[in-house]
Order: sequence, then structure tokens, then C-alpha cells
Amino acid sequence: MRVIFVGPPGAGKGTQAARLLERLGTPHISTGDMFRAAVKAGTPLGQEAERYMKLGQLVPDAVTIGLVRERIAQPDCAGGFLLDGFPRTTPQAEALEAALQADGVAIDAVAVLDVPDDLIVERITGRRTDPETGRIYHLRFDPPPADVAGRVVQRKDDTEEACRTRLALYHEQTAPLVPFYGDSGRMKRVDGVGTPDEVTARLLATLGL
Ligand code: AP5
Repeated sequence: MRVIFVGPPGAGKGTQAARLLERLGTPHISTGDMFRAAVKAGTPLGQEAERYMKLGQLVPDAVTIGLVRERIAQPDCAGGFLLDGFPRTTPQAEALEAALQADGVAIDAVAVLDVPDDLIVERITGRRTDPETGRIYHLRFDPPPADVAGRVVQRKDDTEEACRTRLALYHEQTAPLVPFYGDSGRMKRVDGVGTPDEVTARLLATLGL
């Protein structure tokens, strides 16, 4: 199955991807995670991406599209994938459609996680990640256990200022993807408010998993 998760920053895309992966049985492709890995490794891609990411801005389409095209051409994606955080602009969505069409395949479902803006800043500023496992926590909603709490880290772009920039960009550049996919019957809107378990249950039902 080829699935896309769309949603504002902090909507729970990464949290839900981790929960659905076993059912989907496909690779999880998060462009944010790929860029963060490149930043950590100090590659030229990472150096370029970091300039945009720390300000909460989007990495240029040409860079991001090339990265995803390469990734979905890998053999482990032949049976499907879960794309998280891509596409994020109309040119990215058009490039993805073209790449898949050339391979004779298509996106099966686009799940849009709806979370109102006033919840986003709290989710983002309270997020912490375990650098050893990649597990995402929240200081209030999903606190790390005592043996993990000492090593969790905060993302550099999880400041309130960068979060507001990311949120504004979401409404301006990513929300237009709803009409882009809207007519195709693949667009599924999912309420992202509630406990992570409640959201998982909605997604499983919506995707028919
Ligand atoms: P990316 O990493 O994709 O960031 P994002 O889209 O802003 O999404 P987040 O990772 O912030 O949030 P999420 O929806 O995964 O939420 P999470 O599950 O962690 O991108 C980062 C940057 O990379 C971009 O700003 C850009 O610069 C660049 N980039 C990436 N892709 C790009 C692209 N395609 N084009 C151009 N540039 C690109 O949850 C958040 C918090 O909430 C956690 O603490 C979690 O525990 C908590 N939480 C989750 N669900 C719930 C719930 N139901 N109730 C309560 N708390 C919850």
C-alpha cells in the first residue's frame, strides 16, 4: 500500500507512523528524519537543509524531490511505502505523481491529520525524542520513563518561533494539497485530536487496515 501522511507540524504524523508500520509492512519515509540524519552526518545535503530547517522554512523543492525520488526507487519500496512529511507543496505532489505514473503505480490513500493550531504549539514545544531509539515522547502527554528521561533531546526547530513559521507555511503551501488529491477519492480526513490510541484507531479504520 502507498500511503501519505499530511498534517501540520506536531499533528502526530511520526507518532502514528511508528504505530502503523507493522500493519502496513512498508518502509516509513520521513523527509524530516532524512534531513535530520544528513545534518547529523554533516553531509553537503545536511548542511544545506540545516539552513532552512532551523528557521522552520521548507528545504527547496528541487533538493527534496530528488531525495524522495531516489528513496522510493529502492527495492524495499516496491510493495509500498508510508510517506510522512512529503509531499508538502504542489510541485512536490506533481513530481511524486509523475514518478509513480512512470512506474505504473499510484498513491492509494492520503491521510490528513487535522489538529487545530492552538494545540500545535503545545505539542511541538513539549516534544522530546530518545536519540537511541528515535521514540517520540511529550513532556506532558506522553512523558519518557525514568530510565530514558535523562537522555531525551529537543529538536532545534521545536521553538515557539520556528513552530509558528512552520504552521504558517503549512497553511500556505501544504493545505492546498487537500484539493490537489481531493477529487481522486484517495483523500481521507482524520481527526488528530484525542489520545494517540484514539487517533490510531481512527486511522486503522479509515485506511481499512
Ligand atoms: P518534519 O520532521 O516533517 O516536521 P513536521 O512536518 O513539522 O512534523 P513534525 O515532525 O514536527 O510533527 P509530527 O506530525 O510528526 O508530530 P509528532 O508525531 O512528532 O520536518 C522538519 C523540517 O524538515 C521542515 O520544517 C522542513 O524544514 C524540512 N522538511 C521536511 N520535509 C520537507 C519537505 N517535504 N519539503 C521541504 N522541507 C521539508 O508529535 C508531536 C508531539 O505531539 C510529540 O511530542 C508527541 O508525543 C505528541 N503527540 C502526538 N500525538 C498526540 C496526541 N494524539 N495527543 C497528544 N500528544 C500527541
